[in-house]
Amino acid sequence: MNCWGVIPAAGIGSRLGAAVPKQYLEIAGRTLLEHSLRALFADARVKGVAVALRAGDERAAALACLQDPRVLRVEGGAERADSVAAGLAALGERAAEDDWVLVHDAARPCLDAKSLGALIDAVAAGGSGAILAQPVSDTVKRSDDGNTVAATVDRRSLWLAQTPQLFRLGELTRALAGAGAVTDEASAMEAAGHPVGLVPGPRTNFKVTTADDLLLARCLLAAGEN
Ligand code: C5P
Repeated sequence: MNCWGVIPAAGIGSRLGAAVPKQYLEIAGRTLLEHSLRALFADARVKGVAVALRAGDERAAALACLQDPRVLRVEGGAERADSVAAGLAALGERAAEDDWVLVHDAARPCLDAKSLGALIDAVAAGGSGAILAQPVSDTVKRSDDGNTVAATVDRRSLWLAQTPQLFRLGELTRALAGAGAVTDEASAMEAAGHPVGLVPGPRTNFKVTTADDLLLARCLLAAGEN
């Protein structure tokens, strides 16, 4: 099975309020980007990864992990979806239409090899693609004004989408080209009419968005728990 990766790493991480974009924050001696990249290469089926970086990003030049010959550096875009599209386009020169592509956030450094393997195994068994996702375990409230509860939502059918998200290169490229502003690849595939499988991902595969997340990621990665 031919499998590739795209890591969108061209964001500025404004919600974290750090001095550097969050993909460059260091935990246990490595940047979040490097942790995420290593997590993908933990599965031998992953042949190469396109990393989308901001135009003129000088920090990237200093990163040893991006010198790996299996890594393809590309220029990202204004939105995450643009950065993913740039990565897919670059892979198009090396990969076939029917090859599989894992799209994985640079800001999800705690992905474990077992979950990644389970995702790849799931699509190898058939289907047009799948994502890691976590069933919602808390009671869910909806609010219309941000201050009071309007309703309690039935959580039994709800899942939180994670990355990696795994689809065929050609189908994903076309789906993204036809989609509007999506925040994950599965949304584009759903809109194009493709069934998207769900593979349970652990709570530890969260996206680092806030200072709390960063603290948790530090604990997990320092303890070698991912
Ligand atoms: O900002 P957010 O948390 O949604 O970013 C998710 C991922 O998408 C991060 O790895 C970030 O670097 C990336 N991204 C990107 N290009 C953008 C915006 C975000 O590659 N224009």
